[in-house]
Amino acid sequence: MKIIRSLTAMTAWSERLRREGVTIGFVPTMGALHDGHRALIRAARLRCDALVVSIFVNPTQFSPTEDLARYPRPLERDRALCREEGVDVCFEPTAAAMYPEGFETVVTVPEIGRRWEGEVRPHHFPGVATVVTKLFGTVRPHLALFGQKDYQQSALVRRLVEDLSLGVEIIVRPTVRERDGLAMSSRNVYFSSGERIVAPTLYKGLQAGAEAVAKGKTKASDVQAAMAKVIDRERGLTIDYLAVCDPLTLELLSSVTSKAVLLGAVRLGSVRLIDNLIVTAGSKRMQRKLSERLPRGEGV
Ligand code: PAF
Repeated sequence: MKIIRSLTAMTAWSERLRREGVTIGFVPTMGALHDGHRALIRAARLRCDALVVSIFVNPTQFSPTEDLARYPRPLERDRALCREEGVDVCFEPTAAAMYPEGFETVVTVPEIGRRWEGEVRPHHFPGVATVVTKLFGTVRPHLALFGQKDYQQSALVRRLVEDLSLGVEIIVRPTVRERDGLAMSSRNVYFSSGERIVAPTLYKGLQAGAEAVAKGKTKASDVQAAMAKVIDRERGLTIDYLAVCDPLTLELLSSVTSKAVLLGAVRLGSVRLIDNLIVTAGSKRMQRKLSERLPRGEGV
């Protein structure tokens, strides 16, 4: 596996392969790789000839009060995982190379980006949209994979790629969960052992919402109440939002008549947890999944 740190070397590598007709897959990450990333890398491996994983803790998507300084950076372990999974290039740019003196462009996706996470973390999505655009411009992949765990991020990236004709196919893969349902995240290491026990409650709340839809509830306020009931029971969790939304625009829905996404964000100690579930009104498949009650991936 090659480790590339320079932007020009990264682009030169990709351009050479593109000229030879090689399909380039890309998994952008901030490192601290876990089994969710591993699943994305494996899914990418099946779809491309050459695979690039970027490891870059992007400073512009953190607000000054957030965890940029303490964000985990186990670089050697990350590289080992990439090697194990047959990654061809680990792209590890520095912040100075990504944002050199004089850098001033900011990419925003105002509608999708202002809601939910955008309201609580106004810095976040302009930072994500800008770095993803820059990474795509540097790596020049044919396809890029994102996890459903960050649902709003994936919706925003899809919009961005379409609006700016970036020519990258975006593939969103199901959330990978721990056995108790907690969505895998690099930030799960922040939990104390007590908090870790409580953390899956967000997923249980979302499941309660999905169950309400499967049982025929169509009023979004009923579905929202079903989610809140489960989460409110757990002391120590504070709800930021629990919402029933349109799966593309993320606008709040008043009723669930077809496909919807249940979005949730809670605070637990110093950690914010986000998660989501896709639901379809009247879906037999969803009813079956709920009856199985397996905390596996949920399809988009
Ligand atoms: O999801 C992430 O890890 C980051 O937001 C991303 C897409 C790598 C951009 O920094």
